[in-house]
Amino acid sequence: MSAAAEPSFRPAVQADLPQLYECDPYSRNHESRRVELRRVVQQGSCLLALVNGQPLGFATLEYNFFGHAFIPLICVATAHQFKGLGLALLVELERLCLTSKLFTSTNASNAPAQRLFARAGFTRSGIIENLDEGDPELIYFKAVPRGAQPADPSAQETSWGKPQAAA
Ligand SMILES: CC(C)(COP(=O)(O)OP(=O)(O)OC[C@H]1O[C@@H](n2cnc3c(N)ncnc32)[C@H](O)[C@@H]1OP(=O)(O)O)[C@@H](O)C(=O)NCCC(=O)NCCS
Repeated sequence: MSAAAEPSFRPAVQADLPQLYECDPYSRNHESRRVELRRVVQQGSCLLALVNGQPLGFATLEYNFFGHAFIPLICVATAHQFKGLGLALLVELERLCLTSKLFTSTNASNAPAQRLFARAGFTRSGIIENLDEGDPELIYFKAVPRGAQPADPSAQETSWGKPQAAA
């Protein structure tokens, strides 16, 4: 990625939803995905990547995976893939992550995502059968250096990605 094309990041807001749908073709045909995107945006858990001010990708980060951070979804607009934006999003999420263990996952059939996660330093961490028929879910893990974060996540100045209070 050239210096001029360095991405910037900010939490996605409701007004960004049409751009999120643009980045995520699946959402255009699946109301359930649009509902999910509205939820994570409202919750403040969706990070938008912009290049030259244009939203070209996003990723979500939640803290609901056995108490650890989990990236359920990362998407880069089709025309802008293969330019390092997916990797930049993962690096930024790792920087923002408030827990020492960061997980993500993808289907066994999704070679681009597997390549991306390996490139970002994630390692395989198990497999879940029976989610999508005939297409197991591969779990990926990366240790996050504790030195990069405050000792007490609740002391973080920004609320972005802050673990949800226990119900
Ligand atoms: C997965 C995805 C986010 C990758 O985004 P991206 O911006 O293209 O990724 P990057 O440009 O940062 O590439 C990172 C690595 O993945 C590789 N990669 C990216 N797309 C690839 C593809 N289609 N086939 C093979 N490798 C691919 C890149 O070559 C790079 O590896 P390298 O540096 O060793 O060559 C993007 O393909 C996407 O949005 N897919 C649809 C949504 C999805 O499946 N999300 C993942 C599961 S939630």
